[in-house]
Amino acid sequence: MLMASLADDVEWPIRTERLLLRPAVAADVGATWQIRRIESVSQWLTRAPGALDEHVKHFGEPESLAKTLVIELDGRIIGDLMIAVDDAWAQAEIAERAKAVQADLGWVLHPDHGGRGFATEAVREVLRICFDDLGLRRVSAECFAANEASWRLMERVGMRRETHTLRESLHRSGEWLDGFGYALLAEEWANRLLSQLNKAIQFPRSERLGLRMAVVLRTHVWSRACRPHELRAATECWSRWPTIP
Ligand SMILES: CC(C)(COP(=O)(O)OP(=O)(O)OC[C@H]1O[C@@H](n2cnc3c(N)ncnc32)[C@H](O)[C@@H]1OP(=O)(O)O)[C@@H](O)C(=O)NCCC(=O)NCCS
Repeated sequence: MLMASLADDVEWPIRTERLLLRPAVAADVGATWQIRRIESVSQWLTRAPGALDEHVKHFGEPESLAKTLVIELDGRIIGDLMIAVDDAWAQAEIAERAKAVQADLGWVLHPDHGGRGFATEAVREVLRICFDDLGLRRVSAECFAANEASWRLMERVGMRRETHTLRESLHRSGEWLDGFGYALLAEEWANRLLSQLNKAIQFPRSERLGLRMAVVLRTHVWSRACRPHELRAATECWSRWPTIP
């Protein structure tokens, strides 16, 4: 079901302002291992792939490939992302309606490319894929509370902290660590886009033009036809239109 939905409901590859996202293939194993074996990266991951063989075994599994995307910058892989579609909890009689409605997310970025907003750009697009293309109702992600880069990323893309668990996760250092859980609902995501849009429009030159733009853009957002970077480009372009008397 997961393989079918990611493959069928999304047009690949996807380009963002600076990046290209595409489903991972077995041949990406070497590039992703080079990133995941770096200590500052692997310290936060479920698996620290010591040897390439070990990574090949896990990464190459069809189930694992089916939920993995790679992030390319100028044709080179600089990270990977996970979209693991899952069922929501539901009471037995209506459990059918809760099938494949949410996703757990994950991310890895090569530290050489950190601090430039690449992970933010990629994860924003992942949110759009989840809500627009896959029609999911909720996304979530978890991290160690000590993994500040990861939870700050979640906050930058608008995810909401839902849980703070105390010393419930065992780190391979032997320490029991706190954990954070974040989530975002489809309606929260759409509302956030709308409020950004409202700020961007600000009825700059003509109330009539502003109003028309607002209606058109609202329709685009609600019909989920517009990607965030397209929306930004459109608002920039429209704000330069001459005044209508
Ligand atoms: C989590 C992780 C992907 C975050 O990487 P990151 O470099 O902090 O994130 P970004 O690429 O979005 O960059 C954000 C930084 O660039 C800055 N930045 C520069 N240009 C930017 C832009 N256009 N947009 C957003 N941020 C920008 C931000 O201010 C931020 O800097 P700050 O941390 O000093 O505030 C990375 O640390 C990582 O791979 N960690 C190891 C693996 C891991 O922990 N995975 C998650 C397990 S739960």
